[in-house]
Amino acid sequence: MSAPSRIRTTPRRGRRILAWAVAVVVLVGAAAALAALAWSVAARTTAGQVDFSRPLAIPPLAESTIDADGRRVFDLRLQTGRTDFGLGRPTDTWGVNGPYLGPTLRAQRGEQVAVRVTNDVGESTTLHWHGMHLPPSMDGGPHQMIEPGGIWFPSWQVDQPAATLWYHPHLHGETAEHVYRGLAGMFLIDDPDAAPALPRNYGVDDLPVIVQDKSFTDDGQLDDGDPLFSPTGFLGDTILVNGTIGPYAEVTTETVRLRLLNASNARIYDFGLVDPDGRAHDFVLVGTDGGLLPAPVPGERVQLSPGERAEIVVSMTPGQDLVLRSFPPDLGGDFFSERFAGGDDTLDVLQLRAADTLAPSPALPHRLAPAPDLREEDAVTTRTFRLSGTAINGQDMDMNRIDEVVRLGTTELWEVTNADGIPHNFHVHDVQFQVVDVAGAAPPPELSGWKDTVYVAPGSVVRLIMRFTDYADPESPYMFHCHLLRHEDSGMMGQFVVVRPEDGVEPGSDPDVHASHGS
Ligand code: C2O
Ligand code: CU
Ligand code: CU
Repeated sequence: MSAPSRIRTTPRRGRRILAWAVAVVVLVGAAAALAALAWSVAARTTAGQVDFSRPLAIPPLAESTIDADGRRVFDLRLQTGRTDFGLGRPTDTWGVNGPYLGPTLRAQRGEQVAVRVTNDVGESTTLHWHGMHLPPSMDGGPHQMIEPGGIWFPSWQVDQPAATLWYHPHLHGETAEHVYRGLAGMFLIDDPDAAPALPRNYGVDDLPVIVQDKSFTDDGQLDDGDPLFSPTGFLGDTILVNGTIGPYAEVTTETVRLRLLNASNARIYDFGLVDPDGRAHDFVLVGTDGGLLPAPVPGERVQLSPGERAEIVVSMTPGQDLVLRSFPPDLGGDFFSERFAGGDDTLDVLQLRAADTLAPSPALPHRLAPAPDLREEDAVTTRTFRLSGTAINGQDMDMNRIDEVVRLGTTELWEVTNADGIPHNFHVHDVQFQVVDVAGAAPPPELSGWKDTVYVAPGSVVRLIMRFTDYADPESPYMFHCHLLRHEDSGMMGQFVVVRPEDGVEPGSDPDVHASHGS
């Protein structure tokens, strides 16, 4: 009986195998097709396709008053609003003293400042002063939550070199969303005692350039969905500068200074200028995160990961048009992660239109600022930070755990390794650091000035040197973290306190922070 049954079952089994084979082929084919589709749409280019038809919005300079104690006081209200981006219908957004983004704060080195921050967004949030040297309780990190309807009133003395800093929310787990909705702005520090001849007329020859990528739904609302396979989180298809889509700026002077800020959640830009024939137009890099470079550095490109800034000076001839374009950044990863992290994207950002007659500009000085002078041999401690998965040194962010205890007045070496195959960067609160080396090599000119945020390529190591001065507080931590906001929110952040010897704080202890909301 076995033979006939075998004869009967063989075709059936054969059909089953065939059916499975077909199913497998179809599934593999569909997966391959999907992957191929994702691969092909993952590379975007808008080069030459943006019709720069809207004048670049310039965030107003924030008004301030001098109070009885001589402090410069700013008022910031975090609010919800609706913004007309020119999409045919308004978009629900958040902003500071307006519907989207916020005013530019400006203060001088040596001044006491105070900021009255009112939270009217209907959710708890915070406001952090990125790049500012200040006491940790004034820092606006995750421990300084402002309740809905609440007011937070930090104050501190500005004491650091002239620089382009910025502010943004910093609540644990939702920074990406709050920044994406529109809470961010610039904070410029001037130093009248050390002011080389650079363009300095705000909004005329000294332009804030806050670059963000967004996506919009069909009905004009902000879409924060991550693209397929993105290892870094949100990447948008539309570039906004200061909240303007397709912006142009009229240039009326021979040179113009652009203060570039990457205020995007995850996108890494490699900025360059092109003329209408697509030829590269050189610029001069004059500043990075924490201040001016020792000397101007002529160049063609400057790459900025989220949180980083660069100040460049562009020379123009009468009637000339230039486009600020982001070229495919060098992320230093494998081809797969590069592509899905935006590494193959080319994006037009801003058009500069020179008038037919240009007012004369000062020639660039040869020296701009003292070079950072921290020396490796002065470091009393070397700390290592390994970025991997959603963790630093194997641990996800815990608000109730102090990760590092730093002695006030000391210099330290921080060695940061990206142990992943995907992009990360590294930001430290309170200090500006100096890059000692990148993968063992001396830093390039764009990393030779003061920095507070630095890109760390997959598999690479950066060594940073920094000095912790002025502010010790055993109960209130500063943060260090990856500034790709999805990574930060999902745990790639840690806390350090700066203490005096007698404070006796141990790593691993609970900060026991006295949350400083209300006023
Ligand atoms: Cu721009 Cu910890 O932040
Ligand atoms: Cu910061
Ligand atoms: Cu990261």
